[in-house]
This record gives sequence, C-alpha cells and structure tokens, in this order.
Amino acid sequence: MAVEKLHLAPARGWSGSPLLVHARRLVRTHAIRLAALYFLVFAISVLGVLLFVYWTSANFVVQQTEATLDAEIAGLAEQYAQRGLSGLIQIVAARSAGGRGDAMVYLVTDPNGRPLAGNISGWPAEVVVRSGWLSFGLERTRNGHSEIRPAWGRLFAIPGGYRLLVARDISDAAAFRGQVRATLLWAGLVALGVGLAGGTLMSRNMLRRVEQVNRTSERVMAGNLSDRVPLNGTSDEFDQLAANLNRMLDQIERLMTAMREVTDDVAHDLKTPLSRLRTRLERALHDPSADPYQRETIRAAIDEADRLLTTFNALLSIAELESGARREGAEPLDLAEVARSAAELYEPVTEEKGFVLAVKTEPGVEIRGERHLLSQALANLLDNALKYAGGGTIEIAVFRRDGQAVLEVADHGPGIPEADRQTVFDRFVRLEPSRTTPGNGLGLSLVRAIVRRHDGSVTLADNRPGLRVRLQFAALAS
Ligand SMILES: Nc1ncnc2c1ncn2[C@@H]1O[C@H](COP(=O)(O)OP(=O)(O)OP(=O)(O)O)[C@@H](O)[C@H]1O
Ligand SMILES: [Mg+2]
Repeated sequence: MAVEKLHLAPARGWSGSPLLVHARRLVRTHAIRLAALYFLVFAISVLGVLLFVYWTSANFVVQQTEATLDAEIAGLAEQYAQRGLSGLIQIVAARSAGGRGDAMVYLVTDPNGRPLAGNISGWPAEVVVRSGWLSFGLERTRNGHSEIRPAWGRLFAIPGGYRLLVARDISDAAAFRGQVRATLLWAGLVALGVGLAGGTLMSRNMLRRVEQVNRTSERVMAGNLSDRVPLNGTSDEFDQLAANLNRMLDQIERLMTAMREVTDDVAHDLKTPLSRLRTRLERALHDPSADPYQRETIRAAIDEADRLLTTFNALLSIAELESGARREGAEPLDLAEVARSAAELYEPVTEEKGFVLAVKTEPGVEIRGERHLLSQALANLLDNALKYAGGGTIEIAVFRRDGQAVLEVADHGPGIPEADRQTVFDRFVRLEPSRTTPGNGLGLSLVRAIVRRHDGSVTLADNRPGLRVRLQFAALAS
C-alpha cells in the first residue's frame, strides 16, 4: 500500500529551522520525558547523598570538639574538687603555658573580672558573662597579624564570684567544613553534569531506535514491503521488538506474495484457454448457418471475453512490472512530448464527451524511461478523468520542481476522499460511487507499478474540486 502524500516543501524561516523543529519534536517525545524524570530522580538522589555526607562530617567535627572540651572540663572539675580554687588556678596556668597547642583557650577571673590564670588576657569583647555553652570570636596574633578566629566553649561560675572559661579554637573545624562543602558542591555539579549527559544520551539513543522503527513502517506503508528494521545486535528490548516486527513483515510479505502469485497464475493459466475460446467464438460468428440472434449472442460473448482478456493482461503487466525484471528499454525521454502525443490521441474522445483538454508544458523536462509504459500510465489517468469527472477541463502539466520532473493530470470531478487515496492504488479497488461505471480497479495499480519501475512516486491530491495526480521522477540534468 502506498503513502501517497503530497510532499509540500516546508516553509523555511526561523520557526521552521531544522534545529528548532528537532528541538520541538524532542520535547514532545516520551523519551525526553523519561530522560527528564530519570535526571530528576538522579538529581534528588545525588543531592540527598551529598547532604547526608555533609551533615555527617560536620556533625563528626562538632562531636569531636565537644568530646575534647568535655574531657578538659572533667579534668579541671576533678582538680577543683580535690584542691579547691588555688588548685584550679594552678592547673589552668600550667595548661595555658604547656604545649597543648593553640587550640585550647582557658581563663579564670576573680569576682571583679580580673584574670587570674589563662592564655587570653581578658573576656572576649562580645561574651556575655553567663554560665553555659557559648561561641565567640577569639583575637589571636599570628606572624604579626591579628585575626579573629571562631571559638566555642563553656563558662562556669565558681562559688565566690570566680569564673572559668574553657573553650576551643574551632577555626580548623570551620575550615574543614568549608572544604567539605566545596568538595561536595563540585562533586554534585560533576554528578549532575554526568546525569544530564547520561539522560540526553539515553533519550537520544531511544529516540534513534524509535525513529528507525518509524521510518521502516513508513517505507513499508509506502509499498516497500521488503524493508526491515535494522537490529543493533544488543538483544535488548528494542532489538527484540525490531526482530518481532521483522518476523511479522516477513510473514505479511510471504502472504502477499503468495496471494499475488495465485492471482497472477490464475490470470496466466486462464489467458490461453480464453484466447482459444475467443478464436472459436470468432469462427462461429462467421459461420453462415448462424442466425442473427445467435450472432448477437456470440458477439456479446466475444465482448465479455475481451473484457476478461483486458483484465488478465493488466494483471499480468502489473505482475511483470512489480517482479522487478527490468527490460532494457529505458531511454532519455522528453516528458512534454509524451504528454503532447497522449493529448493528441485523446483529443477526439475528450471533445466527444464534452471535455476540454489543456496541456501546459515546460521545455526540456527529461527523464530516463520507457516511452510506451509512461504513455500507458498517462492513458490510464486520462481514462479515469474522462470516466469520473463528468465534464470540464482536464489539465495535463509537465514541469520541473525541486530538481524533479513532474507530470500532472488534474480534473474537476468529484475527486477521491483523503481516506481512500492510498487504497485506490491496490488491485481491484473501486470506490463506491464508481461501481456503476465499467472498470476493474486495476488502472491506478498499473500506474503505480509503472512509476515505481521508474523509481518515481505518485501522489493524489485535492484539485478543489477534483483529483490531481502527480507523477514525480528524477529529472535528467537540463
Ligand atoms: N479522476 C478520478 N476522479 C474520481 N475518482 C477516481 C478518479 N480516478 C480514479 N478514481 C477512483 O479510483 C478507483 C480506482 O481507479 P482505477 O483506475 O484503479 O480503477 P477503475 O478506473 O475503476 O478501473 P480500470 O482503470 O481498471 O478500468 C476508481 O474506481 C474510482 O473510484
Ligand atoms: Mg481506471
């Protein structure tokens, strides 16, 4: 069956640019939606994992700091319990002096807020002197530069108005947190980039495979029954689908071929006895003993036999043309000349039936083809126009379009509804309104077989009103 569509050149311009068309089609596809969903799930998972890692590592550092501070505080509390305030001051002084690194901060003050021991000179500016956990900025001088570093610790009130601060410089922890944040941010960006690329690749691959199935089905519907969906060799679902479709097409092709062979064999086998029958009838017609009534009957029988022979001949011609057995009769042809000689042949009958035949040709529209076959195709189209249009003008046009040679026959009759424009090319298909006119439904099948033999295409279109049949072939360079 043929997809006989009129291939109109797409309107070019920004909105019709191939890239934009491709992008629009991509957004509409299921594959891209699937890829977007995949990316969303992927992004949420990556974000979840990264947040968890960040939270765990940040929490670990906080716990470490807290544990260190707790150990310090427990040690100091023990000293205070055993040796009272002077013991505490001593141990704080010792710890402040002794190599515990820069990280620990100690301060013991008297009821007036004067420092008694510790490694900072006084209460940091923003500290509200109240018992409990606190965080503050610690002023430190390093290499001659003074800087504020974050610190976190605990303040204790000691009976008698004394106070103790035990804290820790947490700038390393903050730096570590910052580093983790930066690393995770980069890791996240890379993962999202990979996800996006993966999604795009996945959807493109899927789209490509679907496209392959689409293109093959279109070609099969256009009549190329031997076309098959290409396999990737990966045995994935798409390959299985393609293999199943191909098996289905094999079966359809086998059935179609068998059916065609039966019809062609019947036509072939019946043609000879039918010709013999006709010869005998012819002889009987000339028998002097036959009376007028018998002669009339025999003449009618001969007409019937002729009609059958025409049908069989048409069937056999189509079968031969479709079998692909090429005869080497192709030669460079001027389509305008083919059109004019057909018009000359049909002039008397068109006039007789009250039609006007208009021929419009461009010079130098040449193709390689077989003259008698193209004339036969044109004759079939003119026959149809005469049979179905009822009257008016029949136009034959020959011109070049987009480097192709075009031969058109257009009438102003009832035309063919869009839904039937494919099926009328099948054998024996006649539309309902034409049932009363003589015919076999083989004319357009023959036209299509002839056009295909010339590697051309045939399309039916609305002539508003009427039918416009366009035959298109590869043009020879002018
Ligand atoms: N110019 C036309 N206008 C309207 N209908 C048409 C026209 N040409 C063809 N058709 C429809 O398409 C059908 C198939 O045409 P086709 O030429 O294959 O067969 P046919 O004319 O019926 O018989 P045959 O050509 O074998 O004598 C016709 O029966 C008719 O219904
Ligand atoms: Mg016909």
